Amino acid sequence: MNVNDSERIVSMLADLGYAPTNAPASADMILLNTCSVRGGAEEKVYRRLANLRIYKRDGKKQIIAVGGCVAQQEGEELLRKLPYLDLVIGTHNLHLLPDMVRGAERGERRSETTFIDNDQRLDLFPSIKGESRLSRFVTVMQGCDNFCSYCIVPFVRGREISRRSADILNEVRQLADEGVREVILLGQNVNSYGLKAESEPSFAELIRRVSEINGIDRIRFTTSHPKDMSDELIACFGTVPKLSGQIHLPAQSGSDAMLKVMGRGYTRKSYLDKVHKLRILRPDIVFTGDIIVGFPGESDDDFDQTISLMEEVRYIDLFSFVYSPRPGTRAAGLHDDLPRAVKMARLDRLMELQRRHTLEICQPYIGSSMSVLVEGEGKLPGQMSGKGDIGRIVNFAGENSLVGTFVDVKITKAYPNSFLGEL
Ligand code: 5AD
Ligand code: SF4
Repeated sequence: MNVNDSERIVSMLADLGYAPTNAPASADMILLNTCSVRGGAEEKVYRRLANLRIYKRDGKKQIIAVGGCVAQQEGEELLRKLPYLDLVIGTHNLHLLPDMVRGAERGERRSETTFIDNDQRLDLFPSIKGESRLSRFVTVMQGCDNFCSYCIVPFVRGREISRRSADILNEVRQLADEGVREVILLGQNVNSYGLKAESEPSFAELIRRVSEINGIDRIRFTTSHPKDMSDELIACFGTVPKLSGQIHLPAQSGSDAMLKVMGRGYTRKSYLDKVHKLRILRPDIVFTGDIIVGFPGESDDDFDQTISLMEEVRYIDLFSFVYSPRPGTRAAGLHDDLPRAVKMARLDRLMELQRRHTLEICQPYIGSSMSVLVEGEGKLPGQMSGKGDIGRIVNFAGENSLVGTFVDVKITKAYPNSFLGEL
């Protein structure tokens, strides 16, 4: 979501005559697009902001701006705390960016963090222009109504709102015309797409309609909430060949007791049932997921349940986090007496197991052939790089002219984060 917002910001700033640079000291503007999902991410923003002050000290005219979730959360307060800061742009206010930047060029300081929770917001998803790439995000919905007890997202991104399907399909058609071959349908909880809008199709139906667009050969989506993963959507994995063979399905925990206090709305069994149904329809499907360890009250037994869930699902990749209390969330008020060392030891054990699973799942691909969408040059000279159906990077020796095509690559080696192969 943030990467997509950053791309949108770059595109809007290009219209104002700004171009990206790698030299922040001499930049005319620095905009930090921020995340507040965990405390660590937020602290990083404050450290970076403190560093930026140095650039401005010698009276240089440089616009310093903060966007994203920290901006939304702190608002005006940020301007008060940091006299060298010029702009604070909330999560629903990006459309004001051009006006705010023009004002800042004249020395005006401004903060805009008003939530827009009505249909007007649907018109605020400007298409991203410029750089033609092969794989593009397409926002289908924004916000979240789930209020999981640990999560700040509903507070900083607002209520769920689905974009009109006609607009989504038009954008995908336009992208296909520009040469894009893969779209990633994006939202905080894509599977609840359209649920609040009677006139809109279900997410499964939206996927089917996107798959009918010529030129788009691969469809991914993120993020899915397991409780909203309908049978209709699961069935798509058996009937829509363009749907990628990888799905991100965050479990957060394998313990029913923890899932309950987290307010996730599903049980370990119902999560695993969905995994099994998907595997039956698509035996080669791979799962990625998110896990939180050290949630308040997590016992050794609860943690063992998470480990055993990992053993049952066998994720190809897992994003694991130590629980971080977030202001204003329900979990922030829970008594948490688990020592930090215990939490870190659990995280280590989980990561160790995941490293093993990743290798065990990737090794069998060696010797097999994978259809790869070639996206650009690889890290080493003469190497090209792209992604296979399961979402992993594949590097191989090849020509630049292959960019934009699907090629068959024989996998020769599996690394922790990528494959090596040959044409
Ligand atoms: N502490 C730790 N991890 C969190 N996440 C969300 N909120 C928190 C929190 N307070 C994780 C979840 C989510 C991912 C994006 O970040 O696993 O799926
Ligand atoms: Fe946060 Fe839960 Fe919404 Fe995901 S579903 S964004 S974890 S509140």
